Amino acid sequence: FFQACIFDLDGVLVNTAHYHFLSWKQITNRWKVTFTEQDNESLKGLSREDSLSRLLHITGKQLTPAEREQALIEKNELFRQYLTQMTPDDVLPGVTACLRFLKENHIRLAVASSSKNARMVLQKTELTPWFDVIVDGTEIEKAKPDPEVFLKAAARLNIQPHQAIVFEDAKAGVEAALAGGFCCVGVGQADILQQAHLIIPDFASISPSDLWISLSGLSA
Ligand code: G6P
Ligand code: MG
Repeated sequence: FFQACIFDLDGVLVNTAHYHFLSWKQITNRWKVTFTEQDNESLKGLSREDSLSRLLHITGKQLTPAEREQALIEKNELFRQYLTQMTPDDVLPGVTACLRFLKENHIRLAVASSSKNARMVLQKTELTPWFDVIVDGTEIEKAKPDPEVFLKAAARLNIQPHQAIVFEDAKAGVEAALAGGFCCVGVGQADILQQAHLIIPDFASISPSDLWISLSGLSA
């Protein structure tokens, strides 16, 4: 039976996935190239650097190394402007009830994010105290789809991958979880997250007890 749940942060617990998109969008507007929310799906979960590479590939834009560096700095400045305005209201619907339910049932909780801003997001949204373990983008060498961030979280929880369930909204995140040997719940669109063991649209669409029943089936 599973002992822990490991959550991706952006797009799973908080609505920051949209802020990442809006930040990149301001940069692509300046470049005068098209970049849609659907295009953004393949950036989700990637490190800042890998997201930029992917963005250049999608849009066909070319940058010098110095321009690349500048774009990364600007993207982070734009994103951090959104962060300054974040409050506990940015926690996605149903998330707190789910965390409370899992805690009451003695499941240990972790966050595993590629973001170097993860601790700041958790602080602003007052989610930090829920988690036994937090691993963020400053502590890993290889970002998702590499499983490193999830394996690190499992190691710190002192459990094996098969004893944990990962929650992910990104294709790269689902791939990372599966590569690490974890059970994975996709949170979002079924067509994007089809490799996950179970898919839910969001935490507001399922009661904690129904989710619990589904999770128990997964790890049986
Ligand atoms: C998360 C998001 C990505 C983002 C990455 C790096 O994984 O899903 O969209 O690119 O973190 O975030 P950072 O805050 O370090 O730029
Ligand atoms: Mg995410």
